[in-house]
Order: sequence, then C-alpha cells, then structure tokens
Amino acid sequence: MEVRLQKYLADAGVASRRKAEEYILSGKVKVNGVTVTELGTKVDLKKDKVTFNDKIIKPQDDKIYIVLNKPQGYISAAKDQFDNLSVLHLIKDCKKRLFPVGRLDKDTTGILILTNDGDLVNKITHPKNEIEKTYIAKIWGKPTSSEMAQFMKGLIIDGEKTSPAKIKIIEEKGKFSVVEIKIHEGRNRQVKKMCEEINHKVVTLHRKSIGKLSADDLEVGKWRYITKKELISKIGL
Ligand code: URA
Repeated sequence: MEVRLQKYLADAGVASRRKAEEYILSGKVKVNGVTVTELGTKVDLKKDKVTFNDKIIKPQDDKIYIVLNKPQGYISAAKDQFDNLSVLHLIKDCKKRLFPVGRLDKDTTGILILTNDGDLVNKITHPKNEIEKTYIAKIWGKPTSSEMAQFMKGLIIDGEKTSPAKIKIIEEKGKFSVVEIKIHEGRNRQVKKMCEEINHKVVTLHRKSIGKLSADDLEVGKWRYITKKELISKIGL
C-alpha cells in the first residue's frame, strides 16, 4: 500500500503532517537513500526505506497520548540549536517517538499534550476546531476596562488580527495582576504578545487547560497516559 510521504512521517510519530511537510522541504527525509523534497511523493509501506535525519522510521500502529504538567526551563521542541532541555527528557520511560501538540515557551508551565498520532495533532491545532485554551498570567499593572475590551475584540499581533479572546482579573497583587485568559488560536507567543499589546508585560504564564483537560492534578514535571477517547471528549473535538 502506498501513502504520501508526509502521512508516512506523521504515522511514524515524527511530527504532525504540516511539520512533516517542512521537514521534507528542508531535505531531512530520504526514501531509499535519496533525499526527497517533493511533497506529493508516495511511498510503499512495505518496500520503501524512509529515513528522517538519517534514522530509519516506520509507521507505528499503536498510538499513545500523554498529558504532561510542564515545568519551567524546558522547551517543547525536540531540540534546538542552544542545547536546551526538551520536555521529551521528562518522558524518557516512554519508548515511543513523541511530539508535542502545539508549543509552550521555555518559561511557560502547565498542560502539554504529547502523542505519536500526527492526524490528531492536526485536528487539535487547527484553528477551525476552536479548542479553547485557558491561561493564568501574572502581568505587570492592572488592565483597565478599555484595555480589556480591546483584548476581547482581538488585537493586531505580527501584522494580523487575533480572534476575539477573553480576559478577566482574578487577583490584584501590588504592582501585578493575575488574569485568566482564554484563546482559541495557538500563534507563537500569542498570550505574551497580546498582553504586551495592551501594555501589560507577562511575568509568569501557566496553561491551566485545553478544553476541559488540565494537568493540575499532576505534580510539576510528571505525566500520565490518557486514552484517545478521554482526550477527545475532554478537549471537545
Ligand atoms: N502564549 C505565549 O505567549 N506563550 C506560551 O507558552 C503559550 C501561549
């Protein structure tokens, strides 16, 4: 049976299909020893030998889903050029090749889902599915009602308007406020950029939930398996 190369990579747990396309275009994928940069390329599941960064990869039949309570100081990518510690170091006992669903910044804490199911990643991260993510942010100062109204209408960040978001003040702590923020998109550093846009820099950021799924029942740095059924029902897919 033949499948498209990006699906093969996603099924092998290398990355989501979209990310797999980037890997193909950047020349990290070989089929039978030859670098392939053509996205439509089909590969035979039985006959072809596919490598990613020169390591042989194979589609995995059993999909796994993990919820992690991410600590500060870990990046959510598998690696970067600075040798930062990756969240994958926290999940060493799980032998599968996993990738995180969406990103949390190195200094952001809270729920992160990891899986080897590339198709599900696409569904969770696709803005059309509008999965709500709730963050608790400690920010400088106290947002005024007009700043909060701007935030809720949507703000221009990186030249593009965000969709409407929610913000409410939970606590005032001297020079800081603790706010609860709800967004549906997952743009790069979105919460921090939105808060900066209304002149309240983020001091700390915690992701409390994705849909109704939270990791606050886990100690910081700990993880647990979750079934696909529970995952789907809690995040409201
Ligand atoms: N928004 C941010 O600014 N950072 C995160 O880590 C997540 C959402």
